[in-house]
Amino acid sequence: MLQGKRIAFGVCGGIAAYKAADVVSKLQQAGALVDVILTEHAEAFVTALTFSTLSHRPVYTTLWEPTGDAAARHIELGARADLLVIAPATAHTLARLAHGLADDMLTTLALACPAPLLLVPAMEHHMYQHPATQANLRLLAERGATILPPEVGHLASGIVGIGRFPETAAILAEMRRRLGRSGDLAGRRVVVTAGGTREPIDPVRYIGNRSSGLMGFALAEEARDRGAEVTVVVGAVSVREPFGMTIRHVSTALEMREAVREVIAKADALVMAAAVADYRVEHPARHKIKKGSQAENADGSLNMRLVRNPDILAELADARALLRVGFAAETTDLTEHAARKLVSKQLDLLVANDVVRENSGFGSATNEVTLFHADGRVEPLPPLPKRDVARAIWDRVVSLLRERDSETEMPERDPATFPTA
Ligand code: PMT
Repeated sequence: MLQGKRIAFGVCGGIAAYKAADVVSKLQQAGALVDVILTEHAEAFVTALTFSTLSHRPVYTTLWEPTGDAAARHIELGARADLLVIAPATAHTLARLAHGLADDMLTTLALACPAPLLLVPAMEHHMYQHPATQANLRLLAERGATILPPEVGHLASGIVGIGRFPETAAILAEMRRRLGRSGDLAGRRVVVTAGGTREPIDPVRYIGNRSSGLMGFALAEEARDRGAEVTVVVGAVSVREPFGMTIRHVSTALEMREAVREVIAKADALVMAAAVADYRVEHPARHKIKKGSQAENADGSLNMRLVRNPDILAELADARALLRVGFAAETTDLTEHAARKLVSKQLDLLVANDVVRENSGFGSATNEVTLFHADGRVEPLPPLPKRDVARAIWDRVVSLLRERDSETEMPERDPATFPTA
């Protein structure tokens, strides 16, 4: 996504300018061609050498280079950029941009640049909250700029408030999202589920599973980078959550069912990578179950009755407008079980993984999956990083969505066409 992209990257004079160096470094590592423009005030905090070392490219600081060709450079840099990012964007530069001032390299480039603009404001709490700054941000947003709002936290002024420069991963995610607007999922709303559900036994214990969230998050990030508006319904996970999407946290299967039902209202596709508990404890104990308590049998054993959870995907079989993709986590007879799940849940696509295979399934960075299509095709994929598996799944979903757009009829599903062994 960032590979080969030309990024014009403006840095203004705020203390967060030093953090922009990390963003530029990560962009360079991701293969982007980053042209850094420092304002005069930025140079009071950081040097051009810092940024040219990290970007492996020249850094621009002035319109008035004695060689004479700098006057045209702001036009050239603006014209070739895929995205203009200003991070940190100070109150002063936001005001200059809002009013169309062009008194240095960065602001002239901003006026001359047809590429989308991403602003990352960072400043002291009161400066950010000031009506003038807020009005300028509104004006810039109305003109089409994307604003990544600052975070709340400890500020250089010593107070805790809003104004902190977001972390590098959040800025990169927003850049990917902005660049993805011309991707093949642009204009689509998708819902992904990730992680595992937890069914309470008592206030301290639960029945859970080994899902890390990696597969679901890879799907969500890939969809975001291809232009989709993504909502992820997240159960228990053991990895960091992605940025640049809406996240709904749930714990139990019943909560996941409720959240999915709410967020699919306007969605084009639902991909359920979450490991959902099929059973829950019928009556979880209100207090911690103690050894030797009345709940215990004479032989020291404990009885617990489990009841079936609703099947979230199967229940949505009537949602014809929604393209539904399920996963199947299998330990034996993968083909037989997967083909049965595809039909019983009336899915458009089923992604089956053998979760006892090495480097596949739960917690692993890679996955080896077989795709079961509604038309009976069975497509094994080689072992791949989960992000590549996600890419393959969205490729198929994009084709199905296009087919659906051009058809009014749903494809027929004939269970007899599926292999059973
Ligand atoms: O998170 P990772 O560590 O990366 O691991 C990824 C994964 C192994 C969890 C993932 O690849 C995977 O296989 N997810 C599906 C796990 C699962 O619940 O499989 P299942 O065969 O039990 O369920 C079939 C499908 O029905 C799944 O899409 C599941 O989300 C859905 N389901 C299941 C039960 C239920 N009550 N409601 C459901 O909607």
